Amino acid sequence: MTATATAEYLPSQRARWAGGQPISQLMAHALQNPDLISLAVGFVDQETLPASAAAAAWSSLFQDPHTAAAALQYGTTPGHLPLREQLLARTRHADAADPPLALEQIVVTAGSNQLLQLVSESLLDPGDIVLCAAPTYFVYLGLVAGLGARAVGVASDAAGMIPDALEETLARCQRHGDLPRVKAVYLVPYFDNPAATTVPAPRRAAIVELAKRWSKHGRIHVISDEAYRELRYAGEDLPSPRVWDEEGDTVIVAGSFSKSFSPGIRVGWGLLPRHLIGPVNDQKGNADFGSPNLNQYLMARVLELGLWEPHLARIRSSYSEKLKAMLAAADLHLARLPGVEWHRPQGGLYVWVRLPGGLDAGLDGPLFDAAVREGVLYVPGEYCYPAAGEPVQRNSLRLSFGVQSCAKIREGVEKLARALRAAG
Ligand SMILES: Cc1ncc(COP(=O)(O)O)c(C=O)c1O
Repeated sequence: MTATATAEYLPSQRARWAGGQPISQLMAHALQNPDLISLAVGFVDQETLPASAAAAAWSSLFQDPHTAAAALQYGTTPGHLPLREQLLARTRHADAADPPLALEQIVVTAGSNQLLQLVSESLLDPGDIVLCAAPTYFVYLGLVAGLGARAVGVASDAAGMIPDALEETLARCQRHGDLPRVKAVYLVPYFDNPAATTVPAPRRAAIVELAKRWSKHGRIHVISDEAYRELRYAGEDLPSPRVWDEEGDTVIVAGSFSKSFSPGIRVGWGLLPRHLIGPVNDQKGNADFGSPNLNQYLMARVLELGLWEPHLARIRSSYSEKLKAMLAAADLHLARLPGVEWHRPQGGLYVWVRLPGGLDAGLDGPLFDAAVREGVLYVPGEYCYPAAGEPVQRNSLRLSFGVQSCAKIREGVEKLARALRAAG
């Protein structure tokens, strides 16, 4: 009999880069304490998920056996043509830009996160740099780290990334000989996750202009992550940063139906500069040679039947009430606590809270413990800061109002206030 050697697993470099994401610890807290009011989870509202719209689209799709069979078959790498045509028409209407967007510039992905992954794989080598607002979407920070690239934080305020700070960061990269490694600026211009900021039009123009002007060694792209664009509860929609990209060679848009319809269907899309059509589709060919076809057919049918807009109207009114409930509870319970401040967003799913200077909101800090004891969970702000650039603000946290009822939101904010008094 031969003995089988038990050989050790040697993780790949990519596995090591991808490891140690702190979010799993947070999820573990939520699972261990199911009675906590989670103002941490960034899910959409369970109550307003579009079950009847999805059922209507589904039965319409399956009425015709040919369509049903096509939907149950593999699709194409760039995605279901009628869905891409709908996206083209809608984008041309919302963001009339010159040169006009062409069909081949649209790729459908399994959520916008996959688009971010494919684009980042197409742009970044290990050691390359992406400039991000500090704070920013922590999953994207993990994605960049997973490619062995570096995210560098740029100062932001209540109106998102500050163009002057972006220029200073670019100049600093140049002084350190790092400018050739800067490949992209990552921007969440509508109701950012976590800070809920919306970048005003002049800043959008300035950021695109800076990316172009500083593209001295190679193109610096702007990745415009527009996952929350449709979740606006007040004020007017703003044009995408793409509109200021007159040559059409700088801005990449990541869009999504996850927040505005259903994350379970998980259909997102990308609008690509022409030179990225080949590279992104090559990456997608290797990843899955086409996102789940059935989901794309379903989403296309939802749009064709005019079921998206009424759903949007419903969720806007529901989220708007929840946001009001959270802001009113903050006014009532947090305003009296010295040094506690928060943004008043016009959309999205989050309220970003800053605490007095020395108060650490991290998992190992006094506030998190006190909050768990009180029965409320939040996302520590420190997760949302790139490791380099702007310093990490440990005295910050993200509250989500998407999932909980208005009553639970009020109760959760009151519990947070009690935890703040205990920890402060
Ligand atoms: C800023 C941002 N971008 C992208 C995504 C990914 O969304 P999806 O992949 O479901 O489209 C999220 C999800 O929370 C997000 O907050």
